Amino acid sequence: PVNVKKICCIGAGYVGGPTCAVIALKCPHIQVTIVDLNQARIDAWNSPDYALPIYEPGLVDVVRVARGRNLFFSTSIDVAVQEADLIFVSVNTPTKKSGVGAGFAADLNYVESATRHIAAVATSSKIVVEKSTVPMRTAESMRTILEANSKPGLRFDILSNPEFLAEGTAIDDLFAPDRVLIGSLQTPEGKSACQSLTNVYANWVPVDRILTVGVWSSELSKLAANAMLAQRISSINALSAICEATGANIEEVAHAVGRDTRVGPKFLRASVGFGGSCFQKDILNLVYLSESLHLPEVAAYWRQVVTLNEYQKRRFSKRVVDTLFNTITNKNIAVLGFAFKADTGDTRESPAITLIRDFLSERAHVTVYDPQVEVSQIWFDLSEALPDVPLEQIKKQVTIANTALSAAQNSEAVVVATEWKEFRDIDWRAVYDTMKKPAFVFDGRMILDRDALREIGFEVMTIGRGDQL
Ligand code: NAD
Ligand code: UDX
Repeated sequence: PVNVKKICCIGAGYVGGPTCAVIALKCPHIQVTIVDLNQARIDAWNSPDYALPIYEPGLVDVVRVARGRNLFFSTSIDVAVQEADLIFVSVNTPTKKSGVGAGFAADLNYVESATRHIAAVATSSKIVVEKSTVPMRTAESMRTILEANSKPGLRFDILSNPEFLAEGTAIDDLFAPDRVLIGSLQTPEGKSACQSLTNVYANWVPVDRILTVGVWSSELSKLAANAMLAQRISSINALSAICEATGANIEEVAHAVGRDTRVGPKFLRASVGFGGSCFQKDILNLVYLSESLHLPEVAAYWRQVVTLNEYQKRRFSKRVVDTLFNTITNKNIAVLGFAFKADTGDTRESPAITLIRDFLSERAHVTVYDPQVEVSQIWFDLSEALPDVPLEQIKKQVTIANTALSAAQNSEAVVVATEWKEFRDIDWRAVYDTMKKPAFVFDGRMILDRDALREIGFEVMTIGRGDQL
């Protein structure tokens, strides 16, 4: 195996940044350079006051130790690629917006251009690691591109090494992963490349947690893991609808079901719906794959996980309207939380966006508060969600507040869209005093103390409880 001394990571995003920062921290003998086309992003990673481009608990501490020691952020992609023994490709793979497979298939344009870039500038053999989540057989396409475009005599070994970190807990997940998965060709060269990467992780991950498999199994396992996690949420959310219709309590049901060790207690929190850049994208990718393989029943099975999630979001916004006496026109709705989950500033596929879009189409006035999301990001996301409405019009209907309390002022309803811990600790009595009456709280994340709120005088509605209002 190659003794890896220099690593380059292409893509300084939510995955490439934290993943390779942790590799640098744990492997002081390896020089790690994270490169990106986006100058502003690289500048933020390099900012003297550590105003990093992504918010992730614990990340700053890692960067403080390693940056300038053996961790570097740069837009000089060519140099970093030329010097590296091993290159992670960690670029974005969003759902295609047009062309064949639009709305389902992954857009591989960024992976392909990063691969072509490696082929064009490499002057020595490399191990190229697919870190992005990709459709099956992408490793094969990367190999073909590299071999067809590189200088003669160079060797490229392609590995699949999907990332399982969750945002908000990325650093803990990277420090102590449930497993690291490495897929390679089962040839002597493939196995040797696999060993080289295993040796990097073995600096801090117990070897029994490093799983080595065939490259296609590795690619499929990533899609499968996300599909099965999302499926658990859609299952519990489907049951929450039954609870609301019958008077059962979804938390009691989830607890009772989760106590079966075969099911397990985690990831059974009913919610307003899952968001994030991965679940929907990866399931649609699996749906597309199944259809391409002429497996329509399999495709329909996985598609239903996304369909149910859409239903859950719509069902929630309809309940808000129904409860507020069937109209929210000109009413003030405070939305607490805009990120897709707590402890991140990421808003990709956030359920808050769907809820606000629904409220705006009912001609409500919405005030949003999120402790981490940038104001410009909120305007960007709402413009994208409402392509036919000019931003000036959106700005007439939406206000962005600096605190939860000011967001709630004068509103008829507060909607909790993200499970930020600070929403539990708000002075809810002060919130109540500033609101119109009756004052409604819709807890889309089941984080609030319902009884305490009722004591104050709120009308409270949560997910998966039948005995509402
Ligand atoms: P991201 O959009 O945050 O980051 C990708 C970065 O790649 C961007 O900064 C972009 O400028 C850069 N880039 C694109 N093409 C490039 C090129 N040719 N050269 C240099 N830089 C280039 O995306 P992300 O959230 O980090 O996701 C990356 C991949 O990891 C995706 O495939 C995603 O599915 C997967 N993944 C994401 C998560 C997550 O929690 N976000 C978890 C596991 C896996
Ligand atoms: C997910 C996977 O967990 C991770 O392994 C993979 O690498 C990337 O995709 P992420 O999207 O960052 O991670 O966060 P995750 O914690 O999985 O939450 C996704 C969404 O599901 C969030 O909107 C979250 O609020 C929601 N969720 C999660 C629920 O509604 N209920 C739950 O019980 C758990």
